[in-house]
Amino acid sequence: MSADLTPDELAALCASALPSEGLTAADLETCCFGPGAEVLGDGDGAIAWLRRDFGGVGVAWILLAAVPPERRRRGVGRALVDEVATRCRAAGVREIHTGNAAPRYVWPGVDLAQTAALAFFQDLGFEAYDHGLNMALPTTYRAAPPPGITVERETGDGAIELARREFPNWEDEITRGIERGTTFAARDASGETIAFGAHSVNRHTWIGPMATDPHRRHGGTGHAILAALAEDIATSFGVPVAEIAWVAPVPFYAKAGAVAHRAFRVHRLRIDPV
Ligand SMILES: CC(C)(COP(=O)(O)OP(=O)(O)OC[C@H]1O[C@@H](n2cnc3c(N)ncnc32)[C@H](O)[C@@H]1OP(=O)(O)O)[C@@H](O)C(=O)NCCC(=O)NCCS
Repeated sequence: MSADLTPDELAALCASALPSEGLTAADLETCCFGPGAEVLGDGDGAIAWLRRDFGGVGVAWILLAAVPPERRRRGVGRALVDEVATRCRAAGVREIHTGNAAPRYVWPGVDLAQTAALAFFQDLGFEAYDHGLNMALPTTYRAAPPPGITVERETGDGAIELARREFPNWEDEITRGIERGTTFAARDASGETIAFGAHSVNRHTWIGPMATDPHRRHGGTGHAILAALAEDIATSFGVPVAEIAWVAPVPFYAKAGAVAHRAFRVHRLRIDPV
């Protein structure tokens, strides 16, 4: 990790550039200052980006770009993306994506309500190739576990072992949730962990990831985990609504009363080698 700004300074910039997002210094420290990430810029505009290597193939993500309203349309954002592209080219990176940098991401992509950002990335040559969806769930949602199933805050290894076995992409988030006390697990009568869920692992009050063992689905365990997350968010943060991040199973969340909340455009810029 390397940074021109501290998490507090980036949070101050985001309060001006993205006031409705409520991004805290802690959220930004997790999402933009993690392994392989770099934050460039100053109080007049900043960009956070991440580079990863997949067996010699470099891929990069823009995690966050923010310019305060009074500094926009003066080329600040373009210069920051150009700097990232220059560093990518030098490092042999062939693609830069927007958002979607699991397991540490600020958004699944660029919010479709952010006209300036959509125009900005398109003008800079990014092409849209996918979308992401966040749903909104009232934190009053409750659901009892099915008979014989117990849902509890995870303090042991059960959720990590299930994630490692069935959902390896989520092990990092589930582990960080256990460290923060925001991962929950469901056990059957024999004590086996059959489902997990976490909240606030990247952004506070956001739900995800969550999953039930593929062999133990359709028994109501997932909704019981979701209810435990909703209750814990209400208790910890006092908010009426929680955002479910980067949703795949829409029907599952819709049955719990969640609604489509915001959509994101995912882009890619191809970088020509030098
Ligand atoms: C997106 C953002 C970073 C752009 O910063 P900026 O410094 O204003 O960008 P630039 O001045 O370099 O703009 C480059 C080009 O993008 C396009 N663009 C930027 N804002 C635009 C707008 N509001 N409408 C239309 N086109 C726009 C233009 O083509 C512009 O070139 P031009 O000014 O010569 O016409 C800034 O609007 C912002 O901070 N938005 C809120 C944060 C956000 O939504 N981030 C996206 C998630 S990562």
